[in-house]
Amino acid sequence: MVTSCHSSFVTVTERETKMAVYMPEPYRIKMVEPLRMTTRKEREAAIQKAHYNLFGLRSEDVYIDMLTDSGTGAMSDRQWAAMMMGDESYAGSRSYYRLMEVLDELFGWRYFQPVHQGRAAEKVLFPNLLKPGQISISNMHFDTTSGHVMLCGARPVNCVVKEALDSVSPYPFKGNMDIAKLRELIESYGRDKVGMIVITITNNSAGGQPVSLQNIRETADVAKEYEIPLVIDAARFAENALFIKEREAGQENRTVRQIIKDMFAVADAFTMSAKKDGIVNMGGLVAVREDEQLMEGVRSNVVPNEGFLSYGGLAGRDLEALSQGLLEGVDEAFLKSYTGQTKYLVDRLVELNVPCQQPAGGHAVFIDARQILPHIPYDHFPAHAFSVALYQASGIRGCDVGSFMLDPDPETGEQVESAMEFARFCIPRRTYTQSHLDYVACSMHDLLQKASTINGFRIVRQAKVLRHFTAQLEPVPLL
Ligand SMILES: Cc1ncc(COP(=O)(O)O)c(C=O)c1O
Repeated sequence: MVTSCHSSFVTVTERETKMAVYMPEPYRIKMVEPLRMTTRKEREAAIQKAHYNLFGLRSEDVYIDMLTDSGTGAMSDRQWAAMMMGDESYAGSRSYYRLMEVLDELFGWRYFQPVHQGRAAEKVLFPNLLKPGQISISNMHFDTTSGHVMLCGARPVNCVVKEALDSVSPYPFKGNMDIAKLRELIESYGRDKVGMIVITITNNSAGGQPVSLQNIRETADVAKEYEIPLVIDAARFAENALFIKEREAGQENRTVRQIIKDMFAVADAFTMSAKKDGIVNMGGLVAVREDEQLMEGVRSNVVPNEGFLSYGGLAGRDLEALSQGLLEGVDEAFLKSYTGQTKYLVDRLVELNVPCQQPAGGHAVFIDARQILPHIPYDHFPAHAFSVALYQASGIRGCDVGSFMLDPDPETGEQVESAMEFARFCIPRRTYTQSHLDYVACSMHDLLQKASTINGFRIVRQAKVLRHFTAQLEPVPLL
Protein backbone atom coordinates (compact mmCIF):
# COMPACT_ATOMS: atom_id res chain seq x y z
CA MET A 1 0.00 0.00 0.00
CA VAL A 2 1.26 3.48 -0.84
CA THR A 3 1.16 5.90 2.09
CA SER A 4 1.54 9.65 1.99
CA CYS A 5 4.41 11.05 4.03
CA HIS A 6 2.54 14.26 4.82
CA SER A 7 1.34 13.27 8.31
CA SER A 8 4.38 11.43 9.65
CA PHE A 9 7.22 13.13 7.90
CA VAL A 10 9.70 13.95 10.63
CA THR A 11 9.30 13.17 14.32
CA VAL A 12 9.99 15.92 16.82
CA THR A 13 13.17 14.24 18.03
CA GLU A 14 14.50 13.85 14.51
CA ARG A 15 13.68 17.45 13.79
CA GLU A 16 15.52 18.63 16.93
CA THR A 17 18.62 16.73 15.86
CA LYS A 18 18.43 18.19 12.38
CA MET A 19 17.98 21.74 13.57
CA ALA A 20 21.58 22.00 14.63
CA VAL A 21 22.71 21.36 11.05
CA TYR A 22 20.84 24.25 9.46
CA MET A 23 21.59 27.88 10.20
CA PRO A 24 18.43 29.57 11.56
CA GLU A 25 17.21 32.69 9.75
CA PRO A 26 19.04 35.87 10.86
CA TYR A 27 15.75 37.84 10.63
CA ARG A 28 12.17 37.63 11.79
CA ILE A 29 8.90 38.17 9.94
CA LYS A 30 7.24 41.61 10.13
CA MET A 31 4.69 41.39 7.34
CA VAL A 32 2.84 38.42 5.84
CA GLU A 33 1.06 37.72 2.56
CA PRO A 34 -1.82 35.21 2.69
CA LEU A 35 -1.65 32.10 0.48
CA ARG A 36 -4.68 30.26 -0.87
CA MET A 37 -4.83 26.48 -1.17
CA THR A 38 -6.86 25.39 -4.19
CA THR A 39 -8.53 22.06 -4.96
CA ARG A 40 -7.13 19.58 -7.46
CA LYS A 41 -10.12 20.26 -9.71
CA GLU A 42 -9.38 24.00 -9.69
CA ARG A 43 -5.72 23.39 -10.49
CA GLU A 44 -6.50 21.01 -13.35
CA ALA A 45 -8.78 23.67 -14.87
CA ALA A 46 -6.17 26.40 -14.30
CA ILE A 47 -3.31 24.53 -15.99
CA GLN A 48 -5.51 23.53 -18.92
CA LYS A 49 -6.50 27.19 -19.35
CA ALA A 50 -2.78 28.05 -19.27
CA HIS A 51 -2.23 25.63 -22.20
CA TYR A 52 -0.16 23.45 -19.85
CA ASN A 53 2.49 26.14 -19.53
CA LEU A 54 3.31 26.87 -15.88
CA PHE A 55 4.27 30.44 -16.80
CA GLY A 56 0.68 30.92 -17.97
CA LEU A 57 -0.85 30.33 -14.50
CA ARG A 58 -2.25 33.13 -12.38
CA SER A 59 -0.16 33.36 -9.21
CA GLU A 60 -3.34 33.18 -7.08
CA ASP A 61 -3.80 29.64 -8.35
CA VAL A 62 -0.41 28.63 -6.91
CA TYR A 63 0.14 27.63 -3.26
CA ILE A 64 3.96 27.52 -3.08
CA ASP A 65 5.58 29.37 -5.95
CA MET A 66 8.99 27.95 -6.76
CA LEU A 67 8.96 28.99 -10.40
CA THR A 68 11.96 31.23 -9.82
CA ASP A 69 14.04 32.91 -7.14
CA SER A 70 14.32 35.90 -9.47
CA GLY A 71 12.75 39.05 -8.07
CA THR A 72 10.54 36.98 -5.77
CA GLY A 73 12.43 37.47 -2.49
CA ALA A 74 11.28 39.56 0.46
CA MET A 75 12.92 42.95 0.93
CA SER A 76 14.05 44.02 4.38
CA ASP A 77 12.77 46.92 6.47
CA ARG A 78 16.02 48.72 5.61
CA GLN A 79 15.43 48.29 1.89
CA TRP A 80 11.89 49.64 2.16
CA ALA A 81 13.18 52.55 4.25
CA ALA A 82 15.92 53.24 1.69
CA MET A 83 13.28 53.36 -1.06
CA MET A 84 11.72 56.37 0.63
CA MET A 85 15.05 58.14 0.14
CA GLY A 86 15.10 57.49 -3.61
CA ASP A 87 16.19 60.50 -5.65
CA GLU A 88 14.07 60.47 -8.80
CA SER A 89 16.13 63.04 -10.73
CA TYR A 90 16.45 62.11 -14.39
CA ALA A 91 20.20 62.70 -14.43
CA GLY A 92 22.88 62.43 -11.76
CA SER A 93 20.65 61.25 -8.90
CA ARG A 94 22.02 60.76 -5.41
CA SER A 95 20.70 57.16 -5.50
CA TYR A 96 22.87 56.41 -8.55
CA TYR A 97 25.99 57.66 -6.79
CA ARG A 98 25.18 55.63 -3.68
CA LEU A 99 24.91 52.51 -5.86
CA MET A 100 28.28 53.31 -7.49
CA GLU A 101 29.88 53.53 -4.03
CA VAL A 102 28.47 50.15 -2.95
CA LEU A 103 29.59 48.51 -6.20
CA ASP A 104 33.05 49.99 -5.88
CA GLU A 105 33.25 48.66 -2.31
CA LEU A 106 32.19 45.13 -3.35
CA PHE A 107 33.93 44.67 -6.71
CA GLY A 108 36.51 47.44 -7.05
CA TRP A 109 35.98 47.76 -10.83
CA ARG A 110 36.06 50.92 -12.92
CA TYR A 111 32.71 51.01 -14.75
CA PHE A 112 29.22 50.00 -13.60
CA GLN A 113 25.91 50.53 -15.33
CA PRO A 114 22.45 49.86 -13.88
CA VAL A 115 19.90 48.24 -16.20
CA HIS A 116 16.39 46.97 -15.54
CA GLN A 117 17.28 43.25 -15.28
CA GLY A 118 19.81 40.57 -16.29
CA ARG A 119 18.72 40.11 -19.88
CA ALA A 120 18.94 43.86 -20.45
CA ALA A 121 22.58 43.61 -19.35
CA GLU A 122 23.08 40.86 -21.93
CA LYS A 123 21.36 42.93 -24.58
CA VAL A 124 23.60 45.98 -24.11
CA LEU A 125 26.88 44.07 -23.64
CA PHE A 126 26.86 41.10 -26.02
CA PRO A 127 26.59 42.98 -29.36
CA ASN A 128 29.93 44.59 -28.44
CA LEU A 129 31.63 41.21 -28.14
CA LEU A 130 29.90 38.86 -30.58
CA LYS A 131 29.78 39.00 -34.36
CA PRO A 132 27.39 36.93 -36.53
CA GLY A 133 28.83 33.46 -37.14
CA GLN A 134 30.90 33.47 -33.93
CA ILE A 135 30.38 31.28 -30.87
CA SER A 136 30.17 32.00 -27.17
CA ILE A 137 31.57 29.31 -24.85
CA SER A 138 30.23 28.97 -21.32
CA ASN A 139 30.26 26.50 -18.45
CA MET A 140 26.52 26.76 -19.20
CA HIS A 141 24.56 29.59 -20.77
CA PHE A 142 21.34 30.39 -18.97
CA ASP A 143 18.31 30.53 -21.30
CA THR A 144 18.22 34.33 -21.68
CA THR A 145 21.99 34.30 -22.16
CA SER A 146 21.81 31.84 -25.04
CA GLY A 147 18.83 33.81 -26.40
CA HIS A 148 20.92 36.99 -26.53
CA VAL A 149 23.91 35.16 -27.99
CA MET A 150 21.62 33.94 -30.79
CA LEU A 151 20.11 37.41 -31.27
CA CYS A 152 23.69 38.54 -32.09
CA GLY A 153 23.76 35.90 -34.85
CA ALA A 154 26.20 33.81 -32.78
CA ARG A 155 25.88 30.33 -31.23
CA PRO A 156 26.09 29.26 -27.59
CA VAL A 157 28.35 26.27 -26.82
CA ASN A 158 28.27 24.75 -23.33
CA CYS A 159 31.36 23.31 -21.69
CA VAL A 160 30.53 22.11 -18.19
CA VAL A 161 32.48 19.40 -16.35
CA LYS A 162 31.14 15.86 -16.82
CA GLU A 163 30.36 15.51 -13.08
CA ALA A 164 27.45 17.95 -13.58
CA LEU A 165 25.66 15.32 -15.63
CA ASP A 166 25.70 12.74 -12.85
CA SER A 167 23.10 13.82 -10.29
CA VAL A 168 24.40 11.56 -7.51
CA SER A 169 28.08 12.45 -7.82
CA PRO A 170 29.10 14.37 -4.66
CA TYR A 171 31.59 16.53 -6.61
CA PRO A 172 31.65 19.90 -4.79
CA PHE A 173 31.99 22.17 -7.86
CA LYS A 174 29.67 20.72 -10.48
CA GLY A 175 29.27 24.16 -12.02
CA ASN A 176 32.91 24.23 -13.20
CA MET A 177 34.08 24.84 -16.75
CA ASP A 178 35.75 21.81 -18.34
CA ILE A 179 39.13 23.46 -18.98
CA ALA A 180 40.53 20.78 -21.30
CA LYS A 181 37.36 20.89 -23.41
CA LEU A 182 37.45 24.71 -23.43
CA ARG A 183 40.91 24.59 -25.01
CA GLU A 184 39.80 21.94 -27.48
CA LEU A 185 36.78 24.03 -28.51
CA ILE A 186 38.89 27.15 -29.06
CA GLU A 187 41.42 25.16 -31.08
CA SER A 188 38.80 23.39 -33.17
CA TYR A 189 36.63 26.44 -33.95
CA GLY A 190 39.68 28.73 -34.19
CA ARG A 191 40.38 31.62 -31.84
CA ASP A 192 38.75 34.23 -34.11
CA LYS A 193 35.48 32.33 -34.07
CA VAL A 194 35.16 32.65 -30.30
CA GLY A 195 33.64 36.04 -29.41
CA MET A 196 33.54 35.56 -25.64
CA ILE A 197 33.80 33.10 -22.78
CA VAL A 198 31.05 33.30 -20.15
CA ILE A 199 31.40 31.83 -16.71
CA THR A 200 28.05 31.55 -14.93
CA ILE A 201 28.32 31.65 -11.11
CA THR A 202 26.60 29.72 -9.71
CA ASN A 203 25.81 27.53 -12.70
CA ASN A 204 22.01 27.74 -12.78
CA SER A 205 21.32 25.25 -15.57
CA ALA A 206 23.62 22.63 -14.00
CA GLY A 207 21.57 22.71 -10.81
CA GLY A 208 22.61 25.96 -9.10
CA GLN A 209 26.04 24.38 -8.71
CA PRO A 210 29.07 26.47 -7.71
CA VAL A 211 32.25 27.17 -9.64
CA SER A 212 35.53 27.04 -7.69
CA LEU A 213 37.89 30.00 -7.47
CA GLN A 214 40.58 27.81 -9.00
CA ASN A 215 38.32 27.04 -11.97
CA ILE A 216 37.46 30.72 -12.46
CA ARG A 217 41.20 31.49 -12.49
CA GLU A 218 42.00 28.64 -14.88
CA THR A 219 39.23 29.79 -17.22
CA ALA A 220 40.64 33.32 -17.06
CA ASP A 221 44.14 32.01 -17.88
CA VAL A 222 42.82 30.33 -21.04
CA ALA A 223 40.83 33.45 -21.99
CA LYS A 224 43.95 35.58 -21.54
CA GLU A 225 46.17 33.21 -23.48
CA TYR A 226 43.83 33.33 -26.49
CA GLU A 227 42.90 36.99 -25.93
CA ILE A 228 39.19 36.25 -25.66
CA PRO A 229 37.10 38.46 -23.35
CA LEU A 230 35.91 36.73 -20.17
CA VAL A 231 32.43 37.68 -18.96
CA ILE A 232 30.97 36.61 -15.61
CA ASP A 233 27.23 35.94 -15.42
CA ALA A 234 27.06 37.12 -11.83
CA ALA A 235 23.40 36.54 -10.93
CA ARG A 236 24.33 34.41 -7.90
CA PHE A 237 27.83 35.65 -7.18
CA ALA A 238 27.38 35.82 -3.39
CA GLU A 239 26.15 32.24 -3.02
CA ASN A 240 29.06 31.12 -5.20
CA ALA A 241 31.48 32.91 -2.88
CA LEU A 242 29.96 31.21 0.17
CA PHE A 243 30.33 27.78 -1.47
CA ILE A 244 33.98 28.56 -2.22
CA LYS A 245 34.49 29.42 1.45
CA GLU A 246 32.74 26.24 2.56
CA ARG A 247 34.09 23.77 -0.03
CA GLU A 248 37.43 24.94 -1.45
CA ALA A 249 40.64 24.06 0.36
CA GLY A 250 42.46 27.11 1.68
CA GLN A 251 39.42 29.42 1.46
CA GLU A 252 37.74 28.53 4.76
CA ASN A 253 39.22 31.38 6.80
CA ARG A 254 38.55 34.09 4.25
CA THR A 255 35.49 36.33 4.18
CA VAL A 256 32.85 36.14 1.46
CA ARG A 257 33.74 39.71 0.50
CA GLN A 258 37.42 38.81 0.03
CA ILE A 259 36.46 35.84 -2.12
CA ILE A 260 34.12 38.01 -4.22
CA LYS A 261 37.00 40.40 -4.95
CA ASP A 262 39.15 37.46 -6.08
CA MET A 263 36.43 35.93 -8.28
CA PHE A 264 35.99 39.19 -10.13
CA ALA A 265 39.66 40.20 -10.28
CA VAL A 266 40.28 38.05 -13.36
CA ALA A 267 37.27 38.87 -15.59
CA ASP A 268 36.81 41.62 -18.18
CA ALA A 269 33.09 42.29 -17.80
CA PHE A 270 30.06 41.07 -15.91
CA THR A 271 26.32 40.98 -16.35
CA MET A 272 24.11 40.59 -13.30
CA SER A 273 20.47 39.94 -12.76
CA ALA A 274 20.28 41.70 -9.39
CA LYS A 275 16.91 40.04 -8.76
CA LYS A 276 18.75 37.13 -7.19
CA ASP A 277 21.68 37.94 -4.89
CA GLY A 278 20.88 41.68 -5.00
CA ILE A 279 17.57 40.76 -3.28
CA VAL A 280 15.47 43.24 -5.26
CA ASN A 281 12.25 42.67 -7.15
CA MET A 282 13.67 44.36 -10.25
CA GLY A 283 17.17 45.40 -11.30
CA GLY A 284 20.33 44.45 -13.13
CA LEU A 285 23.89 45.56 -13.75
CA VAL A 286 26.56 45.55 -16.42
CA ALA A 287 30.15 46.19 -15.44
CA VAL A 288 33.43 46.51 -17.29
CA ARG A 289 36.66 46.12 -15.36
CA GLU A 290 38.80 48.64 -17.24
CA ASP A 291 38.22 48.64 -21.01
CA GLU A 292 36.98 52.17 -21.72
CA GLN A 293 36.11 51.43 -25.34
CA LEU A 294 33.96 48.45 -24.38
CA MET A 295 32.17 50.60 -21.82
CA GLU A 296 31.51 53.25 -24.47
CA GLY A 297 29.86 50.55 -26.58
CA VAL A 298 27.73 49.46 -23.63
CA ARG A 299 26.66 53.02 -22.88
CA SER A 300 25.67 53.69 -26.43
CA ASN A 301 23.30 50.70 -26.24
CA VAL A 302 21.96 51.70 -22.81
CA VAL A 303 20.67 55.16 -23.73
CA PRO A 304 18.28 54.06 -26.51
CA ASN A 305 17.21 50.83 -24.79
CA GLU A 306 17.28 51.41 -21.04
CA GLY A 307 17.25 55.19 -20.65
CA PHE A 308 19.77 57.67 -19.33
CA LEU A 309 22.97 56.30 -17.80
CA SER A 310 22.29 57.33 -14.21
CA TYR A 311 19.06 55.34 -13.95
CA GLY A 312 19.30 52.61 -16.62
CA GLY A 313 15.66 51.51 -16.66
CA LEU A 314 15.21 51.78 -12.89
CA ALA A 315 13.53 54.33 -10.61
CA GLY A 316 15.73 56.11 -8.03
CA ARG A 317 13.97 54.09 -5.30
CA ASP A 318 14.93 50.85 -7.08
CA LEU A 319 18.58 51.95 -7.08
CA GLU A 320 18.33 52.54 -3.31
CA ALA A 321 16.77 49.11 -2.74
CA LEU A 322 19.54 47.56 -4.80
CA SER A 323 22.38 49.29 -2.94
CA GLN A 324 20.99 48.05 0.38
CA GLY A 325 20.07 44.62 -1.06
CA LEU A 326 23.60 44.00 -2.33
CA LEU A 327 25.02 44.66 1.13
CA GLU A 328 22.49 42.29 2.73
CA GLY A 329 23.03 39.71 -0.02
CA VAL A 330 26.72 39.29 0.84
CA ASP A 331 26.06 38.91 4.56
CA GLU A 332 27.43 35.52 5.58
CA ALA A 333 24.72 34.72 8.15
CA PHE A 334 22.05 35.37 5.53
CA LEU A 335 23.89 33.32 2.90
CA LYS A 336 24.33 30.37 5.28
CA SER A 337 20.69 30.38 6.24
CA TYR A 338 19.50 30.74 2.63
CA THR A 339 21.71 28.01 1.17
CA GLY A 340 20.82 26.00 4.30
CA GLN A 341 17.18 26.01 3.15
CA THR A 342 18.22 24.39 -0.13
CA LYS A 343 20.33 21.87 1.73
CA TYR A 344 17.42 21.12 4.07
CA LEU A 345 15.12 20.39 1.15
CA VAL A 346 17.72 18.29 -0.69
CA ASP A 347 18.40 16.31 2.51
CA ARG A 348 14.66 15.61 2.92
CA LEU A 349 14.37 14.55 -0.72
CA VAL A 350 17.34 12.20 -0.43
CA GLU A 351 15.77 10.63 2.69
CA LEU A 352 12.58 10.12 0.71
CA ASN A 353 14.44 8.70 -2.32
CA VAL A 354 13.44 11.52 -4.64
CA PRO A 355 16.22 11.70 -7.29
CA CYS A 356 17.75 15.18 -7.34
CA GLN A 357 21.00 16.98 -8.10
CA GLN A 358 23.45 16.56 -5.21
CA PRO A 359 25.14 18.07 -3.36
CA ALA A 360 22.65 20.89 -2.76
CA GLY A 361 23.35 23.96 -4.84
CA GLY A 362 22.40 27.54 -4.16
CA HIS A 363 18.96 28.73 -5.06
CA ALA A 364 16.90 25.70 -6.01
CA VAL A 365 16.48 21.96 -5.95
CA PHE A 366 16.74 20.18 -9.27
CA ILE A 367 14.71 17.00 -9.61
CA ASP A 368 16.13 14.41 -12.00
CA ALA A 369 13.03 13.82 -14.12
CA ARG A 370 14.82 11.48 -16.52
CA GLN A 371 15.21 9.00 -13.66
CA ILE A 372 11.65 9.42 -12.41
CA LEU A 373 9.88 9.30 -15.77
CA PRO A 374 11.91 6.95 -18.01
CA HIS A 375 8.75 6.32 -20.09
CA ILE A 376 8.69 9.95 -21.31
CA PRO A 377 11.16 10.70 -24.16
CA TYR A 378 13.09 13.98 -24.18
CA ASP A 379 10.89 15.46 -26.91
CA HIS A 380 7.84 14.93 -24.69
CA PHE A 381 9.62 16.87 -21.95
CA PRO A 382 9.89 14.75 -18.77
CA ALA A 383 10.92 17.66 -16.52
CA HIS A 384 7.99 19.73 -17.73
CA ALA A 385 5.70 16.76 -17.21
CA PHE A 386 6.91 16.29 -13.61
CA SER A 387 6.38 20.00 -12.88
CA VAL A 388 2.84 20.02 -14.29
CA ALA A 389 1.91 16.84 -12.39
CA LEU A 390 3.26 18.28 -9.12
CA TYR A 391 1.26 21.46 -9.65
CA GLN A 392 -1.90 19.48 -10.31
CA ALA A 393 -1.34 17.30 -7.23
CA SER A 394 -0.12 19.87 -4.70
CA GLY A 395 -0.31 23.46 -6.00
CA ILE A 396 3.50 23.81 -6.10
CA ARG A 397 4.90 25.59 -9.17
CA GLY A 398 8.35 24.80 -10.54
CA CYS A 399 9.57 24.66 -14.12
CA ASP A 400 11.53 22.68 -16.70
CA VAL A 401 15.27 23.20 -17.00
CA GLY A 402 15.68 20.49 -19.61
CA SER A 403 14.79 19.94 -23.26
CA PHE A 404 11.63 22.09 -23.12
CA MET A 405 13.75 25.06 -22.06
CA LEU A 406 16.03 24.68 -25.09
CA ASP A 407 15.03 26.46 -28.26
CA PRO A 408 15.05 24.29 -31.41
CA ASP A 409 18.31 24.00 -33.36
CA PRO A 410 18.52 27.27 -35.36
CA GLU A 411 19.77 25.45 -38.48
CA THR A 412 17.61 22.31 -38.59
CA GLY A 413 14.63 23.49 -36.51
CA GLU A 414 14.80 20.13 -34.68
CA GLN A 415 14.17 19.66 -30.98
CA VAL A 416 17.50 19.65 -29.13
CA GLU A 417 18.02 17.06 -26.37
CA SER A 418 19.24 18.56 -23.10
CA ALA A 419 22.13 16.85 -21.33
CA MET A 420 19.98 16.91 -18.18
CA GLU A 421 16.23 16.78 -17.67
CA PHE A 422 15.83 18.77 -14.46
CA ALA A 423 12.59 20.04 -12.97
CA ARG A 424 13.70 23.12 -11.03
CA PHE A 425 12.09 24.30 -7.80
CA CYS A 426 13.55 27.60 -6.64
CA ILE A 427 13.60 28.94 -3.13
CA PRO A 428 12.78 32.66 -3.09
CA ARG A 429 14.94 34.53 -0.57
CA ARG A 430 13.49 35.15 2.92
CA THR A 431 10.04 34.02 1.76
CA TYR A 432 9.09 30.45 2.75
CA THR A 433 9.51 28.56 6.01
CA GLN A 434 10.81 25.08 6.80
CA SER A 435 7.22 23.78 7.01
CA HIS A 436 6.65 24.92 3.44
CA LEU A 437 9.74 22.95 2.43
CA ASP A 438 8.47 19.86 4.30
CA TYR A 439 5.24 20.14 2.33
CA VAL A 440 7.24 20.30 -0.92
CA ALA A 441 9.35 17.25 -0.04
CA CYS A 442 6.30 15.19 0.94
CA SER A 443 4.37 16.22 -2.16
CA MET A 444 7.25 15.16 -4.41
CA HIS A 445 7.59 11.86 -2.58
CA ASP A 446 3.85 11.17 -2.97
CA LEU A 447 3.96 12.02 -6.66
CA LEU A 448 6.78 9.55 -7.19
CA GLN A 449 4.46 6.72 -6.19
CA LYS A 450 2.29 7.64 -9.21
CA ALA A 451 5.13 8.29 -11.66
CA SER A 452 3.99 5.68 -14.19
CA THR A 453 0.66 7.53 -14.61
CA ILE A 454 2.30 10.84 -15.56
CA ASN A 455 2.07 11.79 -19.25
CA GLY A 456 4.36 13.83 -21.49
CA PHE A 457 3.56 16.92 -23.56
CA ARG A 458 3.97 18.20 -27.10
CA ILE A 459 4.24 21.82 -28.19
CA VAL A 460 1.42 23.18 -30.32
CA ARG A 461 2.56 26.85 -30.51
CA GLN A 462 5.92 28.46 -29.84
CA ALA A 463 7.89 31.70 -30.22
CA LYS A 464 11.17 31.74 -32.17
CA VAL A 465 13.39 32.61 -29.18
CA LEU A 466 12.93 31.66 -25.49
CA ARG A 467 9.85 29.68 -26.42
CA HIS A 468 9.32 28.01 -23.03
CA PHE A 469 7.96 31.21 -21.46
CA THR A 470 4.97 31.38 -23.79
CA ALA A 471 4.68 28.06 -25.65
CA GLN A 472 1.33 26.30 -25.65
CA LEU A 473 1.30 22.52 -25.08
CA GLU A 474 -1.05 19.58 -25.08
CA PRO A 475 -0.81 16.30 -23.17
CA VAL A 476 0.49 13.23 -24.99
CA PRO A 477 -1.75 10.34 -23.84
CA LEU A 478 0.01 7.42 -22.14
CA LEU A 479 0.29 4.34 -24.35
C1 LIG B 1 22.27 32.72 -14.51
C2 LIG B 1 21.26 33.71 -15.02
N1 LIG B 1 21.63 34.61 -15.94
C3 LIG B 1 20.77 35.52 -16.41
C4 LIG B 1 19.46 35.56 -16.00
C5 LIG B 1 18.51 36.57 -16.60
O1 LIG B 1 18.14 37.52 -15.65
P1 LIG B 1 16.75 38.29 -15.70
O2 LIG B 1 15.66 37.30 -15.46
O3 LIG B 1 16.86 39.31 -14.62
O4 LIG B 1 16.62 38.93 -17.03
C6 LIG B 1 19.03 34.62 -15.06
C7 LIG B 1 17.61 34.63 -14.62
O5 LIG B 1 17.09 33.74 -14.02
C8 LIG B 1 19.95 33.67 -14.55
O6 LIG B 1 19.60 32.75 -13.65
